[in-house]
Amino acid sequence: MSSKGCAVEPLDEGTLKDISLSELGASGVHVRMLAAPINPSDINMIQGLYAVLPDLPAVGGNEGVGRVEKTGIGVTSLKPGDLVIPADAGLGTWQTEAVFKEEKLLKMPPDIPLVSAATLSVNPCTAFRMLSDFETLKPGDSVIQNAANSGVGQAVIQIAAAKGIKTINVVRDRPNLQELVDRLKSLGADHVITEEALRKPEAKDLFQKIPKPLLALNGVGGKSAAECCSPSFLRHKGTMVTYGGMSKQPVTIPVSALIFKDVKLRGFWMTQWKRDNAQNKEELDRMIADLCTLIRKGQLSAPACQEVPLADYQSALTAAMTPYISAKQILLL
Ligand SMILES: NC(=O)c1ccc[n+]([C@@H]2O[C@H](COP(=O)([O-])OP(=O)(O)OC[C@H]3O[C@@H](n4cnc5c(N)ncnc54)[C@H](OP(=O)(O)O)[C@@H]3O)[C@@H](O)[C@H]2O)c1
Repeated sequence: MSSKGCAVEPLDEGTLKDISLSELGASGVHVRMLAAPINPSDINMIQGLYAVLPDLPAVGGNEGVGRVEKTGIGVTSLKPGDLVIPADAGLGTWQTEAVFKEEKLLKMPPDIPLVSAATLSVNPCTAFRMLSDFETLKPGDSVIQNAANSGVGQAVIQIAAAKGIKTINVVRDRPNLQELVDRLKSLGADHVITEEALRKPEAKDLFQKIPKPLLALNGVGGKSAAECCSPSFLRHKGTMVTYGGMSKQPVTIPVSALIFKDVKLRGFWMTQWKRDNAQNKEELDRMIADLCTLIRKGQLSAPACQEVPLADYQSALTAAMTPYISAKQILLL
């Protein structure tokens, strides 16, 4: 095939390049990419710090949505016009068009808004699994999480609210804190508290109104993780799941949480879950269907975001690495 697509190749300071499309072949699917977010894991991959790294040269981007243009004669699950998202990490979504293998793609229902589809396969799936797979949570139970304004955090708030689970949401202090608090509450957050306020003795008063959490979700590490699983907050034999390390600090745990509360410490990686469940596609399909139902019911919206034309990818990359920006950068392809 001689036509060309345009792609962000991040590995030599991030350049926009014309690259040739691969042959369609029997199992190929020619996809025109529509939108793709910039997530911390994309940046970590570019930095060479992620658990899976592509062969070089590579195209950046692990998440996004595209429309099928053409399919090889052996492709059975997709047809031209279908919306598709990546089935696994490492697809290279920051490109205008590409030929992917059929098994690397998942079909999306056509009625899901573009930005929701572009941001579905990583953060909402992570939130969904963490709320389902570690503790049996009943309506009225509560969960505490840090980085509550992150993409994962916003999905946790909304999925938990849809299940009747209360959330205590820890964020970093900032000049426009009230604006952020209002936004998270509008998503269904029960309590929003800063890391600083959580350290004060009065923070315990929170638990006079709601039960102590059985589950803590940690996307930050360092002291913030220690506070989320402190015996003052996490319930006896509760679980803290670490899924991210935005502070780049090791997770520190109060000794008393382990000795007196027998707190369990676990980790979660969506990519591993997808690989472990690759043979059991029903589970993945059920999760995507459940998330799409929440989207249709208006119970799961896309993260707060800024849509950026591909040509401005450098400013989008800079914004994605800027603290307190509170807006996911979405490349329009
Ligand atoms: N394990 C998995 O399968 C999995 C899946 C998805 C995501 N993740 C990880 O989850 C984390 C969040 O991803 P995302 O896409 O949801 O992020 P995001 O939407 O880009 O948001 C980043 C979040 O990190 C916070 N943050 C940044 N630096 C921080 C620091 N030094 N201390 C405390 N908070 C800090 C930001 O808070 P401010 O607004 O205060 O800057 C914001 O809440 C990342 O580490 C990502 O790699 C893991």
